[in-house]
Amino acid sequence: MVKLTPPMGWNSWNTFGEKINEQLIFETADIMAEKGLPEKGYEYLVIDDCWSLRERDQNERLVADPEKFPNGMKAVADYVHSKGLKFGMYSCAGNLTCAGYPGSFEHEFLDAQTFAEWGVDFLKYDYCYHSPIIPGRYLYRRMGLALENCGRDILFSACSWGADETHEWIKSTGAAMWRSTGDIFDTWESVKDLVRQQEKLHPYNGVGCFNDMDMLIVGMYGKGNVGLKGCSDIQYRTHFSIWAFMGSPLMIGCDVRDMNQATMDILCNEEIIRINQDPVCRQPVKLVGTWAGEDLLLYSRQLAGGDIAIGMFNMSGEKAVARLNLDEVGLPFSTGKTLSCREIWTGDTFRVKNATMIRELEPYDCAVIRAKVVDL
Ligand code: GLA
Repeated sequence: MVKLTPPMGWNSWNTFGEKINEQLIFETADIMAEKGLPEKGYEYLVIDDCWSLRERDQNERLVADPEKFPNGMKAVADYVHSKGLKFGMYSCAGNLTCAGYPGSFEHEFLDAQTFAEWGVDFLKYDYCYHSPIIPGRYLYRRMGLALENCGRDILFSACSWGADETHEWIKSTGAAMWRSTGDIFDTWESVKDLVRQQEKLHPYNGVGCFNDMDMLIVGMYGKGNVGLKGCSDIQYRTHFSIWAFMGSPLMIGCDVRDMNQATMDILCNEEIIRINQDPVCRQPVKLVGTWAGEDLLLYSRQLAGGDIAIGMFNMSGEKAVARLNLDEVGLPFSTGKTLSCREIWTGDTFRVKNATMIRELEPYDCAVIRAKVVDL
């Protein structure tokens, strides 16, 4: 299935891990609808690992754990759909999933058919316990083909963590998004680490097959399955801004039943989401700027219709001054043009003078700017 902009939604793993059940999913669907998340773009509700029994049935089919999902997965899909959401599930290219439940290896077509019968719209496909002999690209092509032939539009979300040079072959598999990093944890160090892992992979991001930097930790505050130290709201805002700016899928990972206003304000910022969902999905470009240490990241991205997004991300606990010459975004003085800017989080507007943009950034803060090209 082709998806033209980065998929958005919610996934159970970051907060709930194996503690998932029908009631939790129903309540999550209720709240997502109530809070208007689908209207903001968050359309997929995805159940991650640990939903099935440890054994297949006598027909080799996967079986939903009846204690967690007493009415089966079709009932869950129907409920999720009734709330105006799409329904996602999880399997693995190996014999077992990462948490040790049955994987889809050598059952790809049967499982794709089962998911289609249940009304699944999205499949996250992990890479644990995969064959040491059969290359990953073959395994993902199998499931990609199985999904294309299952009679239902199912978005294929590959999760091989960038291993085995995933970027070289992932577009051949039919995947609409692919995990380009290892797993996220709810700490600032983890955010920094994933951003670093991503740096060389931007050229592979684009329409129809998006680099997935993993689920968001915004609003977790150290609670739940991958919750460790937690982060501050400023750090969550910068984390969200980077994921959005880089064109990553935006999958919420906190307990949406328990979101505070700060979390809602971050996740639902329409202008930031608009950059993420820009229809041409051009790759972000790392800028040099005036070197102010490796913890000050500067990025630009050309948007549809001629606007430019500029992201300045202070990854350190010290104040920073970001300086950027417009030469780098294609607007030297000689063009007779400059930028008219709007800083999204603060609402500040300004015009760039002398072809140099300068912004002061508080510790861990960012400036995300949407700019128009105007006459000098
Ligand atoms: C892997 C994936 C995670 C999650 C777990 C589930 O670690 O990368 O996103 O799906 O497996 O076990």
